[in-house]
Amino acid sequence: GVCRGDGFRAVSSMPEPCQSSPFSDDESCDFDWDSLGFGLMPTDYMYIMKCSKDGNFERGQMSRFGNIELSPSAGVLNYGQGLFEGLKAYRKKDGGFRLFRPDQNALRMMTGAERMCMPSPSIEQFIDAVKQITIANRRWVPPLGKGSLYIRPLLIGTGPVLGLAPAPEYTFLIYASPVCNYFKEGSAPLNLYVENEFVRASRGGTGGVKTISNYAPVLKAITQAKNRGFSDVLYLDSVNKRDLEEVSSCNIFLVKGNVISTPATNGTILPGVTRKSIIEIARDRGYEVEERAVNMEELFDASEVFCTGTAVGVAPVGSITCMDRRIEYRTGANTTCQELYSTLVGIQTGTIEDKMGWTVEI
Ligand code: COI
Repeated sequence: GVCRGDGFRAVSSMPEPCQSSPFSDDESCDFDWDSLGFGLMPTDYMYIMKCSKDGNFERGQMSRFGNIELSPSAGVLNYGQGLFEGLKAYRKKDGGFRLFRPDQNALRMMTGAERMCMPSPSIEQFIDAVKQITIANRRWVPPLGKGSLYIRPLLIGTGPVLGLAPAPEYTFLIYASPVCNYFKEGSAPLNLYVENEFVRASRGGTGGVKTISNYAPVLKAITQAKNRGFSDVLYLDSVNKRDLEEVSSCNIFLVKGNVISTPATNGTILPGVTRKSIIEIARDRGYEVEERAVNMEELFDASEVFCTGTAVGVAPVGSITCMDRRIEYRTGANTTCQELYSTLVGIQTGTIEDKMGWTVEI
């Protein structure tokens, strides 16, 4: 069946708990996987690795998923010193699991940590922890075709601060939740609203890294747009309110003939792993891909628009409302979006050969 989720719901109801030991069961839980959306479904284990100010991470440990204890003066709570990541594990046809480009998430976390004055786990530590969390929560990886295990690494300043300064201690934590479609639209086309009051990021800020503090400020714009019946918001550059930036939780692409354009990552746009992969897939399939400033006027003569992101996947856009004008786009069969989407999903789920060496098997 088609999964339909509510992207705005924080916690979905807990399924009947599986009684068997999580480590003794390689099969998915007995659960109604068709009801999966994109809400938190608590799983069995989380991974925690602490780090002191000198940047040395202790040995990571797996513990039961649950609440964590923090000082009220933790850096992350007071000044938002934190980063997050998102990646997915898929069940393989003949046993085991497949991760998609975890090295890219590890690298992005390192870049973000530098920007946010935090120590960062190495690529090896990051990937090793992601593998461990997948194995520990393996009964929560949905059956093939029913979704994936969304893995959420956090890097947060957990040491106490009062004055504005980097925290004295950090925690790298990973939890996971099975997910299917991000938007409540399911796989149906999105209706976007071009936001001309609120901006997402500005030059010199942190829009180009995955800091937690980039996300709460857009809730107001998303809420207003959802109340008006839109799926999400498309942001403009903060200086001229002219060039396209991104959607709240994903990047944007415009298609016109054989040319695909997407805003260049100039420090205000999140360098998405799916964005990067779709660019490479499109070039490999003979499209011309331009990463540059994309003027919002170009929305008026694109034939297709789509969004990319780890959570979102590749989502077709059916309409964009820009300066009170509603522009409609081609969606469905025989679109570029569909072609790129099925290639990406094929690589992620193993039905298409991974020529690029993107996937990591466990
Ligand atoms: C992801 O796509 O993995 C993200 O981190 C976006 C988030 C807002 C769900």
